[in-house]
Amino acid sequence: MNNHTDLRVLGISGSLRKSSFNSGLLRAAQELAPERMEITIFDIKTLPFYDGDIEAQGDPGPVAALKSAVRDSDGVLFATPEYNWGTSGALKNAIDWASRDQAQGSLMGKPATIIGAGGRAGTARAQMQLLETLGETGSVVMVKPGVMVQAFSPMRFDADGSLIDEDTKDLLRRHLDEFARWITRLARPGEFVQYACEMDIDTSKG
Ligand SMILES: Cc1cc2nc3c(=O)[nH]c(=O)nc-3n(C[C@H](O)[C@H](O)[C@H](O)COP(=O)(O)O)c2cc1C
Repeated sequence: MNNHTDLRVLGISGSLRKSSFNSGLLRAAQELAPERMEITIFDIKTLPFYDGDIEAQGDPGPVAALKSAVRDSDGVLFATPEYNWGTSGALKNAIDWASRDQAQGSLMGKPATIIGAGGRAGTARAQMQLLETLGETGSVVMVKPGVMVQAFSPMRFDADGSLIDEDTKDLLRRHLDEFARWITRLARPGEFVQYACEMDIDTSKG
């Protein structure tokens, strides 16, 4: 972490496949994030299905790792695919596990935002469903400007699922800039005023 990096963001992709467009969006986010933001990607592939009996015996390693990664972050960036108008079961499962950490303050009050790459609706329906779920966890979710990518349009991603489209990169960059402001405003209101001055942001507009 360099001197300017003071916002630690956790990125979680809802897709498990290797060449996932959503994982590609997160890798692009790591490159495009403002200088003060560092994005670490957490892989949810090894999480077991949520099971109260497993939980009663103590969190398995991947679950404990997820909870502490969320707890230690200043904000969470979710990248969701759209499966049958909803988010993926894998991502819902990860959120269900993380939400069981309320006493330690894992997702409760946590700044969060959602991006996604999918079919014709660009994951709009999956993002709406995820928004409802995150509302119940107590996360404070930033919706705008929004990143909903039609993944199958030509030249958006390469064969490895890496984002190559410059317009989408610009959109993602704007979304991340706004997320930096969102985190700062929620977690450190005093500091937001200073940051807004540096960035020439008009704080009177809320
Ligand atoms: C089971 C399944 C259901 C899907 N349902 C939808 C859907 O309802 N709407 C949509 O836009 N795309 C749908 N898709 C397409 C995915 O959103 C698309 O494949 C997306 O790229 C997957 O994300 P990934 O590249 O990160 O793996 C579906 C794909 C699968 C495998």
